[in-house]
Amino acid sequence: MKVRTLRSLALAACVGLLAFASGCDEKLTDIAGPSPGLTPTYSSISQNIFASTDSSGRTACTQCHTDQGRTPAAGLNLRPEVGYAQLVNMPAPQKPGAIRVIPGDAENSYLVQKLDGTPGIIGQRMPRNAGPFVTEGQMLIIRRWINQGAQNN
Ligand code: HEC
Repeated sequence: MKVRTLRSLALAACVGLLAFASGCDEKLTDIAGPSPGLTPTYSSISQNIFASTDSSGRTACTQCHTDQGRTPAAGLNLRPEVGYAQLVNMPAPQKPGAIRVIPGDAENSYLVQKLDGTPGIIGQRMPRNAGPFVTEGQMLIIRRWINQGAQNN
């Protein structure tokens, strides 16, 4: 097994324990990396990922996915006030049959596939223009939010 995979598993186990807090040697802030305030809730993800750049140099999604001063890229508006309704259980017009966020199923959520650059996506991996991309740890926290039911929390 690759080191990267092992580290992923360790992080995944750790994020899995977050709800119960203690007993995890890797703190949430370590996993969150360039966005130390990131937690598995919609409000935190929308503020720290969608609407903000971070210390890795990643662009904010709302640079393109906004209705302020432009038409949202791919018809997806990720401003925190409106992003939830645009994501959860919403079809992705780019790819017939794909759903942007499927509560309880991060792997099949098109948002996760576009951020991971999964084979089979239409268009580019996000954020567009060759990254920097969302880190492995940030992705685990996003997956955790979705797998916990993608609540509007
Ligand atoms: C520089 C502009 C730009 C940035 C920054 C950007 N996107 Fe995109 N996004 C696009 C464009 C253009 C498309 C459609 C073409 C494509 O997929 O390559 C798109 C498509 C998407 C789609 C597919 C939408 C659908 O329903 O079919 C998702 C999901 C997405 N972006 C999420 C994100 C997220 C999350 C971020 C931030 C981490 C982000 N994007 C950053 C321009 C951008």
